[in-house]
Amino acid sequence: MSDPPFRIDVLTLFPDWFAGLLDTSLLGRARDAGVVRVDVHDLRAWTSDRHRTADDEPYGGGAGMVLKPEPFFAAVEDLYGDVDARPRTVVLTPRGALLDQERVRDLAGAGHLLLLCGRYEGIDERVHEVLAHDEVSIGDYVLAGGEAAAAVVIEAVTRLLPGVMGNEQSATDESHAHGLLEYPQYTRPASFRGMEVPEVLRSGDHGRVEAWRRDRAIERTRRVRPDLYARWRAIGGAGADDLTPGGDRRLNQGGD
Ligand code: 6GU
Repeated sequence: MSDPPFRIDVLTLFPDWFAGLLDTSLLGRARDAGVVRVDVHDLRAWTSDRHRTADDEPYGGGAGMVLKPEPFFAAVEDLYGDVDARPRTVVLTPRGALLDQERVRDLAGAGHLLLLCGRYEGIDERVHEVLAHDEVSIGDYVLAGGEAAAAVVIEAVTRLLPGVMGNEQSATDESHAHGLLEYPQYTRPASFRGMEVPEVLRSGDHGRVEAWRRDRAIERTRRVRPDLYARWRAIGGAGADDLTPGGDRRLNQGGD
């Protein structure tokens, strides 16, 4: 018997936003294989007035509108019977903790997620207080709403589920999984418009290839993500001073 699908429920004012996404290659294949099931729910279905109002003015004044609490609570009670029976609930909000691969891995272990998408200036605080297990942002920039962030969570989690990735190695052996950015990749042709694939990659010397890749990953991380580099150093990674002697340093020129 196969496992029941990992379930993801999404609560949003813009369900159409997710239409194409769920049919794309990775998610579509995962769904067809019974690995994941994504149900997108229209928050407006749980409004109760004639105009299906989901937002209102902020107490205390200020620009913009705030999403009302009632539809969120009504949806959760309707879908799961009781607030306490809700799955792992993630509010997508620019005030949340930055999403990283560690949290993605954690969420991928939950079995069932509920993603709440904010809009406008925010969601009534009582939704955060009572319903949210996690508050997640996908970066230090402002989106019009949580839908794009929810799509990011859905894809990042789904690709970690057993049986989704064609090559299980590639789910781990890549940017961020080891605290470093990914090394450069090449495929054929060996010579393209005067640009050559580095000799070491064609040498067949697995040890040299591994050392080269590691050096390039360290260099690149130090240059473009000093924050990640410092963390990697702190957890015991080697330093740029430990690069393989005679390694290819070209990529580091013009850097720090
Ligand atoms: Cl989760 N929501 C919005 N509105 N903006 C964001 C975000 C989320 N993450 C980064 N920017």
